[in-house]
Amino acid sequence: MRVFRLVVVATSLAMSSTWSISVAAETSVEEAQRLFREHCRHCHDDGSEHGKYTPMTLIQAQWERFFDRKYERKHRKVIDDKFGGVPVTEAISPEDLEKIREFAIDHAADTDQPMTCG
Ligand code: HEC
Repeated sequence: MRVFRLVVVATSLAMSSTWSISVAAETSVEEAQRLFREHCRHCHDDGSEHGKYTPMTLIQAQWERFFDRKYERKHRKVIDDKFGGVPVTEAISPEDLEKIREFAIDHAADTDQPMTCG
């Protein structure tokens, strides 16, 4: 009886660790796509008055120019209600912005793998 219980515990531990590994298995591209979707899409979806933007809306050079020269200026006074009413530039951490930037450039209209944000 005692042996049997040990086996049950060991099996459920093995199952729970498999479970947590599969939950964490988001690739870096999937993560960046999710960040774009979470932080940009609610203001730049189809029919948005601020323009529709997903990675494949622009070419690489346009995304580079946007992130280098426009993002900060165009978003620092735009309040993001989805993230507690702070400006967009505060709602997105620098690390997440870097991932979003890379994703947009890697999947722009003039790349081999143009993508939307899903
Ligand atoms: C809370 C709403 C909001 C969020 C979130 C937001 N934007 Fe914007 N975005 C705007 C508004 C408003 C403008 C227009 C500003 C203007 O016309 O001066 C704009 C402008 C732009 C433009 C056009 C810039 C140009 O050339 O004039 C691009 C591209 C853009 N956003 C991309 C993004 C990306 C990428 C994200 C996510 C990292 C994002 N936006 C998040 C509201 C938002």
